[in-house]
Amino acid sequence: MIPFSPPHIDQKIIDEVTASLKSGWITTGPRVKKLEELLSEYVGVERVLTVNAATNGLELILRWFGVGEGDEVIVPAYTYCATANVVLHCGAKPVMVDVGDDLNIDVQKIRAAITEKTKAIIPVDVAGLPCDYDAIKDIVNDPQIRSRFSPSTDVQKQFSRIIILSDAAHSIGAGYKGKKSGSLADVSVFSFHAVKNLSTAEGGAICFNLPKPFDNQKVYDELRVLTLHGQSKDAMAKFNNIGQWEYDVIAPGYKMNMPDVLAAIGLIELQRYDEILNKRKHIFKLYNEAFLQYDWTQIPISKNEDGESSYHVYPLRILGIDEETRNKVIDKIFAEGVSVNVHFKPLPMLTAYKNLGYRIDDYPNAYNHYSREISLPVYYDLSDLQVNQVVDAVVKAVSNSI
Ligand SMILES: Cc1ncc(COP(=O)(O)O)c(C=O)c1O
Repeated sequence: MIPFSPPHIDQKIIDEVTASLKSGWITTGPRVKKLEELLSEYVGVERVLTVNAATNGLELILRWFGVGEGDEVIVPAYTYCATANVVLHCGAKPVMVDVGDDLNIDVQKIRAAITEKTKAIIPVDVAGLPCDYDAIKDIVNDPQIRSRFSPSTDVQKQFSRIIILSDAAHSIGAGYKGKKSGSLADVSVFSFHAVKNLSTAEGGAICFNLPKPFDNQKVYDELRVLTLHGQSKDAMAKFNNIGQWEYDVIAPGYKMNMPDVLAAIGLIELQRYDEILNKRKHIFKLYNEAFLQYDWTQIPISKNEDGESSYHVYPLRILGIDEETRNKVIDKIFAEGVSVNVHFKPLPMLTAYKNLGYRIDDYPNAYNHYSREISLPVYYDLSDLQVNQVVDAVVKAVSNSI
């Protein structure tokens, strides 16, 4: 069986994790600090804060911004549940917007979704392609939209407009107008979950790019404390210094810190990330060349005039089929020994959101793309021969179905 997205664990990773295990310090410590510094250099922002999951990073920022009951947050209908769940955790309402052919939020439809209650927009770089952030910035900076923003916390008063919080779970390494993902919105959050391009098994990172008068270092310091229950000192500061055992809890914080033993994996992954990206780009190229020969394929947009994807997911669409046929095609591909996936089942089709009143009929593009979508394997260890096997399996399955 060709797996969908196995992790790439080699001796280098095992050695670094072992070094961390033997160092006597396995939770948040020097390796986390180093990973944060290297990530901020890589992305081109002043500060990066690691966390134990992108989900928690997104929620932390919404809570820092003071999003709560009565507020609205704009999210795409076509995303992973984490994007909307964090809004619900804060007591606010996710306002879902349909997507375009690139699978990203349809920027033209954002404006109509904004009300006096809108506090944040969470664009998602689906499959790794950055959204059109300049167009989204134009919307939140439009004087008419700004005048409708009604701040209810000090942070919101200082911000004086809707915050753009990028769900960049898929897009580390992607580019947009000469900048890297992580530096494109006010705040961006990467995921380092096991299937992601750059993995720490579980984990995430918050990239701060806040506008003036915010001091990114200060916000980093404040939120770093909140990722550890609001403790004024972390364990390292307490244990390694005489007379430093005493601490305070300055706010009821969370437990979201990344441990060093996981940061060890990230350090090796980041060192060779360009090579990882090139390999993924190569696999996309092979798939594109193969599928462009067939008139029933719609290949994913991985490059446009503004930017380039991180090549995280290859969301092939089959033209002229319905959801039922697509499901049969998937079964046939599995029967050929190839594991595939669907990114994503739109949120309004899932029970949790249906129960809240969302209806898929309101998001025709999301449904249209979902019903024809099959995500193909993309990972570092996938050989050219295996790519050919995937293509053959897809071609055979589709030819027998349409
Ligand atoms: C678009 C998107 N956002 C957020 C997440 C959540 O990431 P994590 O598992 O690191 O919390 C994922 C995870 O797959 C995702 O695909």
